[in-house]
Amino acid sequence: MTAPALTERVREELRRRIPLTWLPQPAPAHLRGTWREARPGRIEDSLAAALDRPTGGWQVAGASADVPADRSLVRTLLGREIVLWRDTDGSLLAGPGSCPHLGALLDRCDVVGGQVLCRWHGMPLGRHTTPQWARWEAHDDGVLIWVRLPESAPEDAPTERPVLPVRPDPSASIAAVVAMPATCEPRDIIANRLDPWHGAWLHPYAFSHLAVDEEASSNDRLVLDVAFRLGSRVGVPVRADFTTPDRQSIVMTILEGEGAGSVVETHASALTAPGAHPARTMMTEATIATSPRVGFQLARHLSRVVTAGMRATARQLWVDDLAYAERTYTLRRRADG
Ligand code: FES
Ligand SMILES: [Fe+2]
Repeated sequence: MTAPALTERVREELRRRIPLTWLPQPAPAHLRGTWREARPGRIEDSLAAALDRPTGGWQVAGASADVPADRSLVRTLLGREIVLWRDTDGSLLAGPGSCPHLGALLDRCDVVGGQVLCRWHGMPLGRHTTPQWARWEAHDDGVLIWVRLPESAPEDAPTERPVLPVRPDPSASIAAVVAMPATCEPRDIIANRLDPWHGAWLHPYAFSHLAVDEEASSNDRLVLDVAFRLGSRVGVPVRADFTTPDRQSIVMTILEGEGAGSVVETHASALTAPGAHPARTMMTEATIATSPRVGFQLARHLSRVVTAGMRATARQLWVDDLAYAERTYTLRRRADG
């Protein structure tokens, strides 16, 4: 093998093993404005297409890990207190969050034999008790927990299961979930994500070299190339798309580059009752990362540290993005008088 061929071979091997690319961060003065491409009408059209997609009545209530086998959890969705707990086979159950005896909140109660034991006087509440307490459909998809509430989407026909996007194989991936509330409606959270053009401007610490591929994009799908920043000098370039499986969810899938097949699911669940103002919404984001790299396989064994790191990054991004969503909500409320 000639010297140049060998050098190229070594370079190629390095590129294959190390996904980092020498990609200095552009200074603000040299960063190209994206406001012409981020047309309000374009974002509104994508949002209208997303809002047309039914949820089947399902709302994300948190992470699977939030509900252990022996403890209940109360979450408020659509202004309703909901207790979540596990049956003897581990399946998720859901019912009203207020005890029928004297109204105690059924949060952090002991769960024994698939029954919630109320903390105040020990009333057992389960699938076979009187009263029967598992009133609503609940589903644990292995990463997130869901509840189907009758009032959550009166316009949609209820479905057996929530609409789940394609995820990487759980045995070869790491999942991390972040949840943060905001004063806005679910649609504002979706609208923020349907504006990828803000990425390099609002989050220069996380993204650069962002370009939407208009040819490949439509109102139903946004395709873009972007570099995830790992400091000011290096980045990880990827190609990704955004799709909205239902009106309260938006999914980013890495199509090419490091972590291809990984997904970031963002779900928006209304905390307040329909029509309540100010509206409050919980943003729950699940990052399900996969990579064939040896380093990544090792990282799986350190998954607690890795998932804590993933959560910290997502949290920083979402502080900015939720401020954006809250601003959108404020402006819409102002325009509506
Ligand atoms: S309030 Fe629950 S048992 Fe009394
Ligand atoms: Fe953002």
